[in-house]
Amino acid sequence: MYAAPDQQRLNQLTISLIKGEKEFAAFAEIDAIRSVIRYHDWRYYVLSEPVITDRDYDTLFKRLKELEAAHPDLITPDSPTQRVAAGLTEDFAQVAHLASMLSLENSYNDEDIADFDRKVKELTGSPTVGYCVEPKFDGSSIALVYENDQLVRAATRGDGTIGEDITTNARALSSIPLSAAFSKLGIHRIELRGEVIIRKDVFEKMNKDRKELSLKTFQNSRNTASGSLRLKDSREAASRGLEAVLYHISYAVDKKDKNLIGTTLHTHYSNIELLNECGFKTPIRDMKVCKSEAEIEGFLHEWETKRHTFPIETDGMVIKVNDLKMQERCGSTSHHPRWAIAYKFAAKQAQSKLVDIEYQVGRTGAVTPVAKIEPVALAGVTISSISLHNEDFIKEKDIKLGDTVTVERAGEVIPYIVGVVADLRDGNERVIIFPKICPSCNSPLVRPEEEAIWRCDNAECPAQAEERIIHYVSKDAMDIDGLGRSIIIDFIERGYLQNIEYIYDLPYDEIRKLEGWGEKSVVNLREGIESSKGRPIWRLLTALGIRHVGVTTAKDLSKHVKSVFDFEGMTVENLTNIEGVGPKVAQSIFDFFSKEGNIHLLKKLKEFGVNTDNRPEDAIAKNNKLQGKTFLFTGSLEKFTRDRAKQLVEENGGTLLSGVSSKLNYLVAGADAGSKLSKAKAILTIEILTEDEFLSLIG
Ligand code: IVH
Repeated sequence: MYAAPDQQRLNQLTISLIKGEKEFAAFAEIDAIRSVIRYHDWRYYVLSEPVITDRDYDTLFKRLKELEAAHPDLITPDSPTQRVAAGLTEDFAQVAHLASMLSLENSYNDEDIADFDRKVKELTGSPTVGYCVEPKFDGSSIALVYENDQLVRAATRGDGTIGEDITTNARALSSIPLSAAFSKLGIHRIELRGEVIIRKDVFEKMNKDRKELSLKTFQNSRNTASGSLRLKDSREAASRGLEAVLYHISYAVDKKDKNLIGTTLHTHYSNIELLNECGFKTPIRDMKVCKSEAEIEGFLHEWETKRHTFPIETDGMVIKVNDLKMQERCGSTSHHPRWAIAYKFAAKQAQSKLVDIEYQVGRTGAVTPVAKIEPVALAGVTISSISLHNEDFIKEKDIKLGDTVTVERAGEVIPYIVGVVADLRDGNERVIIFPKICPSCNSPLVRPEEEAIWRCDNAECPAQAEERIIHYVSKDAMDIDGLGRSIIIDFIERGYLQNIEYIYDLPYDEIRKLEGWGEKSVVNLREGIESSKGRPIWRLLTALGIRHVGVTTAKDLSKHVKSVFDFEGMTVENLTNIEGVGPKVAQSIFDFFSKEGNIHLLKKLKEFGVNTDNRPEDAIAKNNKLQGKTFLFTGSLEKFTRDRAKQLVEENGGTLLSGVSSKLNYLVAGADAGSKLSKAKAILTIEILTEDEFLSLIG
């Protein structure tokens, strides 16, 4: 064990050395100061938890230098004074690594991880495999060799077989111990792999300082780290805030050159523990031993969100088979080990060219400009079209046709255009002129003064009818099976579907004769449409496409009426009194029911047999056991389906939320729950329930 168990003694020794309390023989004092300085280097550079002031540290360092100057015969290469060498390195010598420095294969999603897990199980012949998952540090890789507990060589990766000898610069990094007690384990020679990085805050400060000194600022910490390792002046290298994190033992032999990997050294985790105890900086606090693919994925997704708060740049995670004998059984290709894989975090931004703009007419007549860009991969999906929202958005961002735009997508969020890369303009870009007539029906578009949206006001506009019908039949609304978008478009073109009510008056005899329509599909379509007639009115209220009325509001509204026609006589004020209905929503409902065309539509639907009454059996909440309580379900549920779970919450008067936040009361976690569960655990007020506990809650 390194410093940990000695801390008390070293703290006391520090005090007596600083205070000069004790008389030492020169040899003993040199020895004492060295061990104290090493201890404080470790506290400062490895743990980032210093326990003495810089001034006291400098006093000790100065004393050591004085003593060594008086007794040059007592100077050893691992003395803290011997880190920074005077003079310049001429050329970096080429050195062969003890084990070749392979790179890692990349993976990007859960499927890739599943493949990797499957392959490892095949290669090892073991049905269960433990993995270590740890951050992938974005820096410059190095290999350190210790012999007889002394650092004898540090090298860059080079071509993987031969690297550059950067021992002089590596010695200048205080996070790299010049000596380490490997011999306690019988290890005579050992090669360690790691990454030289610059912490985010250090990098920022360095650039800020450079700016003040009118020096050129650095582009990114990875390039700065690798450039700094190759500086000829180790003093300058030492000033760049470099730190080494060690994450792998690639070679270890005893005095007789006997390999110790897989015997003395058992697992990756215990290797990292060993390095940690020897005073190295390691990922130990940020790694997890995972026993299943689901556990790996949960940890990866947790990191995907928290990596931005991590003090070191990471570009992914590394998943490693924990058992070293199993690693050996997996083996390596000439490029990468088969026992490890890198999981790359999704890039958040990409650039692409804006090639065209489409104007889409929504069901309320709103015209939305949609940018067509050259397809680009971003955060795991290929993006070729992105909403530009409205005319003002285009003007504010000064977006032109032919521009290169920066696209961002964070997590599950819909991609959006961050801005234009103005530097890449060549003068051929064209100003975007928002159309003044509807692209579907050629009616003039209108834009009310206080609004940002251009609208087509033509009630008969086919594009609007199309969107209205698509919305009407959708899953959350009337949920009509067998009437998808392409059939709707086809039926509109054939004149079967001018508007919503025509759904219930389709010419089945003609449809039967159409190409691609057999008797069975006609029967299915008819059944889907017929069964929609008996839906509860909250579905109809959702399906009508009233602005600002989604499922939740529709459910709130439905509780307050006997029939949908009751809304006809309500004032904005009446409507605002309904729980869950604000003034904006109330106005929009009022406007909808003030329009004759809409009442006509409802009457027609009723004539066709569509339910417009609030029937007792439709009551959403059958009791109020969960009144005022919010729920979220995660993981795979075994006792009930997700839809049934949601229904149960609603029937008992509870509310469902879509994400973990402080508003959440209960998270019901099934098997293999991932990031939602870990996020919920961090919020003390959220109660975590099993499926059974949830069931007993509702009795
Ligand atoms: S393990 C033979 N672990 O990523 C396996 N590599 O793209 C040795 N890297 O060449 C590599 N963090 O420079 C490993 N926690 C980590 C890492 C890591 C960063 C680098 C390393 C490697 C490259 C592969």
